[in-house]
Amino acid sequence: TRPLKVALLGCGVVGSEVARIMTTHAEDLTARIGAPVELAGVAVRRPSKVREGIDPSLITTDATALVKRGDIDVIVEVIGGIEPARTLITTAFEHGASVVSANKALIAQDGAALHAAAVEHGRDLYYEAAVAGAIPLIRPLRESLAGDKVNRVLGIVNGTTNFILDAMDTTGAGYQEALDEATALGYAEADPTADVEGFDAAAKAAILAGIAFHTRVRLDDVYREGMTEVTAADFASAKRMGCTIKLLAICERAADGESVTARVHPAMIPLSHPLASVRGAYNAVFVEAEAAGQLMFYGPGAGGSPTASAVLGDLVAVCRNKLAESTGPGDSAYTQLPVSSMGAV
Ligand code: HSE
Repeated sequence: TRPLKVALLGCGVVGSEVARIMTTHAEDLTARIGAPVELAGVAVRRPSKVREGIDPSLITTDATALVKRGDIDVIVEVIGGIEPARTLITTAFEHGASVVSANKALIAQDGAALHAAAVEHGRDLYYEAAVAGAIPLIRPLRESLAGDKVNRVLGIVNGTTNFILDAMDTTGAGYQEALDEATALGYAEADPTADVEGFDAAAKAAILAGIAFHTRVRLDDVYREGMTEVTAADFASAKRMGCTIKLLAICERAADGESVTARVHPAMIPLSHPLASVRGAYNAVFVEAEAAGQLMFYGPGAGGSPTASAVLGDLVAVCRNKLAESTGPGDSAYTQLPVSSMGAV
């Protein structure tokens, strides 16, 4: 069987880990897919940076030429942001490649159009890594629960803010002090706005709600309140009530099934609730489905290796589809339900 050719767009923390695992687990991947996978190109911004274990001849700064090559089976997009990622992904479909992406901002904003482009060209678009790192959520919602009816998805989907809130809770620190600690330990970005203002969690909520309820939910549809106003005094009050404070993403189907809501905001939760014990940068998501009942997904929601694990899982699935000359579940069967960003907490 001919090797399946994979190109990486981006080779930062996640991309370099994907390349490393592709090399070290090559035999296992070949066995699971049924054909070898070959790294055929790596598009980067800074070519002079040393990238251990990657053949320098594969490195290019011309991502557009790489996606237009025509011999690439799967493009792995780990650049992030809207452009140039969006154009590169649509160009990849046009030139016969399927796409694995870890790009939550892009999927939350343009997932519908990208899915349509994938379908038009008979290709796959997978993005397990876009929501909650290593935790399988997209595939369970799209596939395992496809025969059930999901009514609610609720959880902690941002590791940075959970780390900060956890530090405030356990040490009595104020917001700024806890943020400084998160930055020093490398959890928070130099500019933590997307995390602390809830944009990152809102993008993930939009993706989860869209998949869970088979409808379209965009980032703009999600009510969003960050956690920068939470104070040490709030934690003291919560404690007196037997509670703690978490930044939650809550996606719900209305009781009549005719609309959905999605929102992100800090919420008090009883210490007896399983989400109260989600510590540090971990994520946890509850899914409530009619037949399945309540499911809980828990694990590392960020970081190079956990995110790479999700990317590799998608890569295996897409390669298997390619060999079977079929595509995965896509999102062709959906009903547009009205989305309201608020609902009863
Ligand atoms: N900044 C994100 C977080 C990374 O802290 O959860 C994963 O999307």
